[in-house]
Amino acid sequence: MAKIDNIEACVFDAYGTLFDVSAAAAQCQEELGDKWAPLSQIWRDKQLQYTWLRSLMDEYVPFWQVTQDGLDYAMATLGIDNPELRQKLLDIYFKLDAYTEVPDMLQTLTNAGLKTGTLSNGSPEMLQAAVDNAGIHLDAVISVDKVGIFKPDGRIYQLVCDDMGVAKENVAFMSSNAWDAWAAANFGFQVVWVNRFNQPPERLPGQPREIIPDLTGLPAILGIG
Ligand code: 2OP
Repeated sequence: MAKIDNIEACVFDAYGTLFDVSAAAAQCQEELGDKWAPLSQIWRDKQLQYTWLRSLMDEYVPFWQVTQDGLDYAMATLGIDNPELRQKLLDIYFKLDAYTEVPDMLQTLTNAGLKTGTLSNGSPEMLQAAVDNAGIHLDAVISVDKVGIFKPDGRIYQLVCDDMGVAKENVAFMSSNAWDAWAAANFGFQVVWVNRFNQPPERLPGQPREIIPDLTGLPAILGIG
């Protein structure tokens, strides 16, 4: 039996939810040695902080720029001065790998007649490169770039309703970024928090309906398969 029903569209956060944000640093382990894990963590943390700070400062730049700024901060923190490695990391990040369960899970949703999409901070060209690289199909690839502010501004979640023609209560929204999951629930989506990183719950307004460790169990939550 479905734990979440009346769903017409399944919308996924991109980075960390569909696509593996640690893949770039992990693929450069030979060059980075034991700095690969801290680099990956600082890069991600700083990238997200810059999205929130730039939104508050009303100083939007595309996520690709924020991604480069976050990487430069992380490399400076760890004392890494290596332009070739910087370029290699960015090339991998531009078309990150999808998590292994993603293609089959999306196919199951599509076969069940549900619309699928991603809503992401990512720049349109980054998102398209990652989708193409993963060989997945999504009915909608929606970037914050259209509005010029980052998540969790409410206008961003509204883009899903406007672009996909669905009411917010008929949207299942999945994110591994807990703050994004809470904000999307606060907006009015039915949210499944993909707690890939085994984190504690946020202390923020909003409440996810369900929690899963990865996306394998999503169709069952929706009463499919
Ligand atoms: C995304 O919007 C927050 O990384 C996250 O894809």
